[in-house]
Amino acid sequence: MAGPLLVIGSVNYDLIFRHPRLPRQGETITGAELFESCGGKGANQAVAAVRCRGGLESVPGPIFFAGAVGDDVNGAAQRRVFVEAGLNTRYLLVLDDVHTGLSAVWVEAESGDNRIMNSPGANSRVTAEALASVPVEEAGLLLLQNETPADGVRSAVNRAADAGVPVMWNPAPIDEQNDPGLDPERIAWVTPNEVECAVLLGRAGERIDAASAADAASELLGLGYGGAALTLGPAGVMLAEPGSTPTLVPAPEVGAVDTTGAGDAFNGAFAAALLGSADSRKAVEFGVRYASDSVTRHGTQTSFARW
Ligand code: ATP
Ligand code: RIB
Repeated sequence: MAGPLLVIGSVNYDLIFRHPRLPRQGETITGAELFESCGGKGANQAVAAVRCRGGLESVPGPIFFAGAVGDDVNGAAQRRVFVEAGLNTRYLLVLDDVHTGLSAVWVEAESGDNRIMNSPGANSRVTAEALASVPVEEAGLLLLQNETPADGVRSAVNRAADAGVPVMWNPAPIDEQNDPGLDPERIAWVTPNEVECAVLLGRAGERIDAASAADAASELLGLGYGGAALTLGPAGVMLAEPGSTPTLVPAPEVGAVDTTGAGDAFNGAFAAALLGSADSRKAVEFGVRYASDSVTRHGTQTSFARW
C-alpha cells in the first residue's frame, strides 16, 4: 500500500475507576482506585499504531491523526502524547468553544472488564465539512471508528473508496441508533468485537463467542466486507478473508488487569502491520500480540508499550 496511515477519530480524556465490583442501580460505591489516561478510540488507535512500529519488520512512514480536541488541559495532555509518540497532528483541530471528549470508565478488578460513559465534546465537530481539508485520497490506508459523527465517517469512507484507498473500519461503538449505514463493499477490513459484530449482522444482543465466531466472520464477508478481523477478548481474533476458511489467531495467556482500549491497541497495530506487509495473518498475529501485552497494564494509552 503506497501512502501513509491516516487515522480519523475521537479523542477523550479517560477517568478510570477500578473496583472489585461495579455499582448497581441507585448505588454509590466509594474506595475505587483511580487511573487517568489520554484515550478515545481514534487517538488510542493512532498512538498504538505509532508506538508498535519498533516491532515491525517493515516500518510504515508517517502516521497522521485527524480529529478534534478542546483548547483545555485534557486536550493539551493528548497533544503532548501525540508529539511524544511521533504522530503527525497537522489535521488535529484545537477548538476554543468546546471541551475535549471525556470518558468515565468503570473497570471490574478481577476480570479487567469495563463499562464506559462518554461525553463527546469536540469529537462532535469531526464532521464531513471539518474533514474536507484532510487529504484522505492520499492515504495508503484509512483507519476509522464510529465515535465521531456519522456524516464525517461516511464521507471519509466514500472519499477513500472512490480514490482506491483501502479502509479499515472499527465499528465501535455501534447500536441501531448509531449506525452510519456504510456500504460494506467500500470497506477493505471490518474489525468488530463480539457485540458490534452482532449489530452488523442485524442481530443486536445475540451472544457471539469463540464457538460461533467463524460463522459470524463468514457472514460479515457475505455482507460484502473485504475482510473481517473479529476480536474475541482473551480468545484472540477470528480472521476471515474471501476464499479461505476463517481461522482463529489465539491470544497469549496473560495476567489481564485492565482490558480498556485492548480493541484499539489491536486495531492500531493491525493497521500499522498491514501497511507494511501483504500477509494479513501475520498482521493479525502482530495486532493480537500488541493488544494482549496492553491488557497487562492499567489505563488506555498508558498501557500501550513502545516497541
Ligand atoms: P475494548 O472495547 O475494551 O477496547 P474490545 O472489546 O474492542 O476492547 P477485545 O476483543 O476485548 O476488544 O480485545 C482485543 C484484543 O485484545 C484481543 O483480540 C486480545 O488480543 C487482547 N485481549 C483482550 N483481553 C485479553 C485478555 N484477557 N487476555 C489476553 N488478551 C486479551
Ligand atoms: O476503547 C476504549 C476507549 O473508548 C476509551 O479510551 C474511551 O475514551 C472510549 O472512547
